[in-house]
Amino acid sequence: MSDLDSKLKAVNVGLLGIGTVGGGTFNVLDRNAQEIFRRTGRQIKITRVADRNIEAARALVNGKAEVTDDAFSIVNDPNIDVVIELIGGYTIAKELVLKAIANKKHVVTANKALIALHGNEIFAAAKANNVMVAFEAAVAGGIPIIKALREGLAANKIEWVAGIINGTTNFILTEMREKGLAFSDVLGEAQRLGYAEADPTFDVEGIDAAHKLTIMSAIAFGMPMKFEQAYTEGITKLQQVDIKYAEELGYRVKLLGISKRTDKGVELRVHPTLIPEKRLIANVNGAMNAVVVKGDAVGPTLYYGAGAGAEPTASSVVADVMDVTRLLDADTAHRMPYLAFQPDQVVDLPILPIDEIQSAYYLRLRATDKPGVLADVTKILGDRSISIDAMMQKEPAESETEADIVILTHITVEKNMNAAIAAIESLDAITGKVMRIRMEELNK
Ligand code: HSE
Repeated sequence: MSDLDSKLKAVNVGLLGIGTVGGGTFNVLDRNAQEIFRRTGRQIKITRVADRNIEAARALVNGKAEVTDDAFSIVNDPNIDVVIELIGGYTIAKELVLKAIANKKHVVTANKALIALHGNEIFAAAKANNVMVAFEAAVAGGIPIIKALREGLAANKIEWVAGIINGTTNFILTEMREKGLAFSDVLGEAQRLGYAEADPTFDVEGIDAAHKLTIMSAIAFGMPMKFEQAYTEGITKLQQVDIKYAEELGYRVKLLGISKRTDKGVELRVHPTLIPEKRLIANVNGAMNAVVVKGDAVGPTLYYGAGAGAEPTASSVVADVMDVTRLLDADTAHRMPYLAFQPDQVVDLPILPIDEIQSAYYLRLRATDKPGVLADVTKILGDRSISIDAMMQKEPAESETEADIVILTHITVEKNMNAAIAAIESLDAITGKVMRIRMEELNK
């Protein structure tokens, strides 16, 4: 085939999994075929589809592609140029992706768990076989955050990334705040609306967000995927009262994925976080996602949009297929490196243990309403050089003798705060555990 023929030849795509995102991908590619061709100069056709539910798959593709329940027949098919993996999970999906790569096919995936846990191995295999692996849809659905981090912000030294990158938990927190509901009341609703992962633990315990944060930190800082070192804390222990008190103090509580480059190492953490309500990201509500990226040259930048759903996620999948299409014939040296940095420049930066991170804090304690308690608490903080930023004491209800005390602190090292909390909890006048929520200003 001459060079020109190979440029004109349609790109044959095999689609593995035609569920929600797969269906969206098929429809977007079909509906926007003309617009996509105008951009790429080359036709992109899903010629084969694999799905366990063969009847539903046939109904969806409506005769426009061959349907099989044997995904391996697609990754082994010499006529397929690009494989889109939308099966999810990391057992069979990993096997299929590695097989496709071994067969010199380019891969586009929305599989955040697969990339966060096995990305290092997958990229090594892809490099050895000179193929591309694209994963825009793995982070924040339809928001082109991978593209922004890898290309749009390439001139910057990225200092930190912070994002609302799980729609289910953002929906739950929004409902808790707006309707005064408890966590358990809202989870079922999120599941009914179809936001939650198959296993909702991944959402509510912050694991899904940690997958996405791992991927963003790797391409922001040029380091390998380090999911197993990410600190992950979900929203299941958050109480309505904390959301209410935070609001009274001018803050919103969001489940944030935060990754910061510091002199000592990289902070990589997912946990509920107080953010000032005046920040744009504090006003991202419902199932929407948003990511703030701070670059040394550009300052803070914000990316907002749908983090899940059929066509928003398909928007990212199809854009990746288009990128791959444009670069099919390019010299491998001219392609975007998998982790945005040249492979020999990817540095194994240390991840800081959670004890070593630096944060400001919200503390809620329950104290017997008697003289000297506040003095004891503030002395404990002062002795550890923890400076108080704001404080609020709630009058006990008529039938009660204990009051809620809420304290906001300035930044300190987490192990200092742990020691202070232990000392506060050991005071006779303090009942139960101290509730601690980390707090970020997100402005510098
Ligand atoms: N369960 C995820 C969310 C879906 O709630 O954001 C997208 O990854």
